[in-house]
Amino acid sequence: MYMNEMTAVTDTEIAPTKAKPTLPDAQTVTAVKHWTDRLFSFRVSRPASLRFRSGEFVMIGLMGDPDPNTGKQKPLLRAYSIASPAWDEELEFYSIKVQDGPLTSRLQHIQPGDEIILRPKPVGTLVHDALLPGKNIWFFATGTGFAPFASLLREPETYEKYEKVIITHTCREVGELEYGRKLIEDLKQDELMIELLGEENLAKIHYYPTTTREESPRMGRITELLQDGTVFKDLGIDPINPADDRAMVCGSLAFNKDMQTTLEGFGLREGANSDPKEYVVEKAFVG
Ligand SMILES: Cc1cc2nc3c(=O)[nH]c(=O)nc-3n(C[C@H](O)[C@H](O)[C@H](O)COP(=O)(O)OP(=O)(O)OC[C@H]3O[C@@H](n4cnc5c(N)ncnc54)[C@H](O)[C@@H]3O)c2cc1C
Ligand SMILES: NC(=O)c1ccc[n+]([C@@H]2O[C@H](COP(=O)([O-])OP(=O)(O)OC[C@H]3O[C@@H](n4cnc5c(N)ncnc54)[C@H](OP(=O)(O)O)[C@@H]3O)[C@@H](O)[C@H]2O)c1
Repeated sequence: MYMNEMTAVTDTEIAPTKAKPTLPDAQTVTAVKHWTDRLFSFRVSRPASLRFRSGEFVMIGLMGDPDPNTGKQKPLLRAYSIASPAWDEELEFYSIKVQDGPLTSRLQHIQPGDEIILRPKPVGTLVHDALLPGKNIWFFATGTGFAPFASLLREPETYEKYEKVIITHTCREVGELEYGRKLIEDLKQDELMIELLGEENLAKIHYYPTTTREESPRMGRITELLQDGTVFKDLGIDPINPADDRAMVCGSLAFNKDMQTTLEGFGLREGANSDPKEYVVEKAFVG
């Protein structure tokens, strides 16, 4: 099984695998890695029955506080993109820590051996089936919107279907890029991944990280860098066009809206599972 850097934990951190589930749809946390004071990733056991397409999301969470009147506890669930590929034995998630967020104020403290709730009903639009065949696939992410692409970048189908795989990730600060940067670096160095995906296929990846507030080698909103042609010049790739290019977008509502306008400006049309076209969009969070 492929494990990335976040699973390189010491023996004492490895979860006991025989913990008895006490929650409905309980899964056991196997590894946790904190990337910044706002971001962490974790891995959990995978329900034997769970089948999903790389890029989909599920509802996960913890038991809520007891109702002060009845004492009853209800699950507190939120949508999360599965960051691991469909073939992985475990499930990986990449999460924000919202200090007063009902779920993540608590979820950020999970440890290996703890249990979370995972409803095994995957859904979502960031799937290969929702796009018509093309030559290049563009993944556009901001913040934790990288998560579905962490899955799709480790999915063999991505490389079978496309000649170029371009992943852009825009964050305010350099530290917020680290999960994605490390994942791509590991992909190209890990022997198992090279064997699974093929060295030639991994050479198809073009990684384009940018920051908007902290100084870094590439700065600016990706929307602007696409509109003024900087991205194409930097990567030595032709401008996006509907005959060759397909795209998936995952970020805030405002980002998704501006990316839709940008992609429509290049002549791409929005698709869906039931009606594949040239691009698809999914929210990385609400609000
Ligand atoms: C389809 C879908 C997929 C999602 N996938 C992920 C994922 O893979 N990883 C993830 O961390 N979150 C993801 N989210 C967001 C997630 O569902 C929760 O909102 C998040 O875990 C915070 O939960 P909370 O209860 O602590 O706070 P909430 O009450 O849910 O959120 C409080 C506020 O925090 C901000 N916020 C919430 N989530 C984020 C975020 N991811 N990045 C930046 N600001 C945020 C928003 O301003 C929001 O109004 C996804 C949301 C949707 C709709
Ligand atoms: N990131 C942090 O360090 C930080 C710290 C504390 C609190 N927060 C809060 O957490 C919430 C989410 O912050 P976030 O940084 O994860 O997500 P975000 O605000 O969506 O920003 C992520 C990246 O996307 C860019 N972006 C935002 N809107 C865009 C658009 N319409 N078109 C193109 N690019 C766009 C941002 O650039 P710009 O910088 O140009 O907006 C930033 O580089 C916000 O409410 C924020 O106030 C964030």
